[in-house]
Amino acid sequence: MCGIIGAVADSAIKPVLEGLSRLEYRGYDSSGISILADNEIKTRKVQGKLNQLKRLLLEQPLEGKCCIGHTRWATHGKATVSNAHPHQCGRVAVVHNGIIENYLHLKEKLLQWGHHFNSSTDSEVIPHLINHYLSQHLSEEDAIAKAILQLKGSYALGVLIDGDSNNLYAIKQGSPLVISQGVNGAYLASDAMALGPDSSKIYYPKDNELIKLTSHGIKLCNPSANRKIHYVNNSYCSKIVSKGEHSSFMEKEIFEQVDLLNSLSVDRHASDYSTINFNDFNKITIIACGSSYYAASVAKFWFEKYANILVEVDIASEYRYRSPVMTHKELAIFVSQSGETADTLAALKYAKANKVQTLALVNVANSSIAREAHFTFEIYAGPEIGVASTKAFTCQLAIFYKMCLEAAQQRAFIKFDELKQLQQNFLQLPYLIEKILQRCTEIKLLAIKLSRYSNILFIGRGIQTPIAHEGALKLKEISYIHAEAYAAGELKHGPIALLDEQMPVVVIAPKDSLTDKLLSNIQEVQARNAPLFIIGDASIRDYINLKEDEFFELPPAPESIQPIITVIPMQLLALYCAQTLGKNVDQPRNLAKSVTVE
Ligand code: F6R
Repeated sequence: MCGIIGAVADSAIKPVLEGLSRLEYRGYDSSGISILADNEIKTRKVQGKLNQLKRLLLEQPLEGKCCIGHTRWATHGKATVSNAHPHQCGRVAVVHNGIIENYLHLKEKLLQWGHHFNSSTDSEVIPHLINHYLSQHLSEEDAIAKAILQLKGSYALGVLIDGDSNNLYAIKQGSPLVISQGVNGAYLASDAMALGPDSSKIYYPKDNELIKLTSHGIKLCNPSANRKIHYVNNSYCSKIVSKGEHSSFMEKEIFEQVDLLNSLSVDRHASDYSTINFNDFNKITIIACGSSYYAASVAKFWFEKYANILVEVDIASEYRYRSPVMTHKELAIFVSQSGETADTLAALKYAKANKVQTLALVNVANSSIAREAHFTFEIYAGPEIGVASTKAFTCQLAIFYKMCLEAAQQRAFIKFDELKQLQQNFLQLPYLIEKILQRCTEIKLLAIKLSRYSNILFIGRGIQTPIAHEGALKLKEISYIHAEAYAAGELKHGPIALLDEQMPVVVIAPKDSLTDKLLSNIQEVQARNAPLFIIGDASIRDYINLKEDEFFELPPAPESIQPIITVIPMQLLALYCAQTLGKNVDQPRNLAKSVTVE
């Protein structure tokens, strides 16, 4: 999603271009920079990737001490040079992350005042408004403040003003923004990961706090007694994330899961979960988007089965637009890898405003969602760069499993021996996941065959249903093959009409209490001549004759931990299908890693 970066430094273009490179993983389709040079704003923009911008800068170089840059993920208007940021009007250039909801109304007003627009973006109204107020002889700070008052929606802004000195302003409302004062300069960015080694300390501005970055330092405009800049350590500082010998970050992140599960297996962080008294609540609501939503859907099975606690799972983008029944005996858990997903953040604020206790389950410690919730638990997956979530998904599941065991213990719903067994089961995860990864070439065979189809159905039963959804999501987002998932028992209520020789069905079939029921669903598929691909227990082969490129044998595993195991072949299947089709697995088209707009 859009990324912004700004620097006031000697040769400011260098940290800005480096920052844009670090933001590439978020997904974007155009990029640009503006710089104050010789008392004039100069801009270079391209449609496409950063290497094109860098090439343009070699042909038409720029130098200066005050620079802003942007990677744009198109929302309002296509990915074109004119829609790329920065947008400029007169003395003002702006980079914007977020959405201005009332931009049409503002644009109409500005057109009446004689302004001309070059883009179809919502963002372009911002420099026009600021420039309008500057032309009325307002100070830079007052012009920005007055313009901001007109905006409805969400924004994080970097504002460059051509004036007496080299000044850069930053302000946010609902969108992520970080500020940093280093030894060699002052910086702003939409993501702590975008900042370089000079940014060991960062500040998270509050909504509508106007900040001025100058060559003499950073200051809050209109400070008051209770508003000060408090810096925190930047945990990403100097961490160089590389894909090592792997062909993609996604591949690396899939293979990292053994070590991650190993490090989560020890009693580490266990005391965190006991800070929640699960006896205080009679209901848990888990709210998330995408893969995080499917992790939440798995957790529902665990909480209900082992802790006997009612769980509702909600899609964040829907939650606050219906009328959810909320009680003071409810714990609302918000799950987000990035901790910045706009819908999840808005749902969290909504629940908090309704006096519900909130808990964030995030991968990024200081993210907006982490800072907003009453309680925060980390999933300790480390930076996830591939757009498709893999290791964050398994770590979310692992932490949910541990939370659930804590809830089961507190609520004394299961016997001590069973609890101990569930804990022991968890310790087997690294070994079982490694066994699957060692046989990844077998999954490649299935992927090569599957990637010839244009539509694929995924099915599973019980706790494997969300894993089927996760498998279908993973496949469609990186290979662009149309894939849908169903609870296997639902097939005959509609989707079975689709089955023929051109509609393969991927079945997740570990040995569990529902295997016999699933076998009947498999027969229904076979009877319609739909190609079958099974990720399942060895015993399935006694009933169904499949070739080696149609069957992947799962290692025997305790039922309680199976979703954390069966998702691994789903991830590999998606990876190898996408690779077979020659797709960019780390940066799939149209997708963004951190979805910071609604
Ligand atoms: C899919 C994927 C997305 C995210 C979703 C939520 O592979 O990565 O579906 O899971 O956008 O993102 P977070 O977890 O950052 O809130």
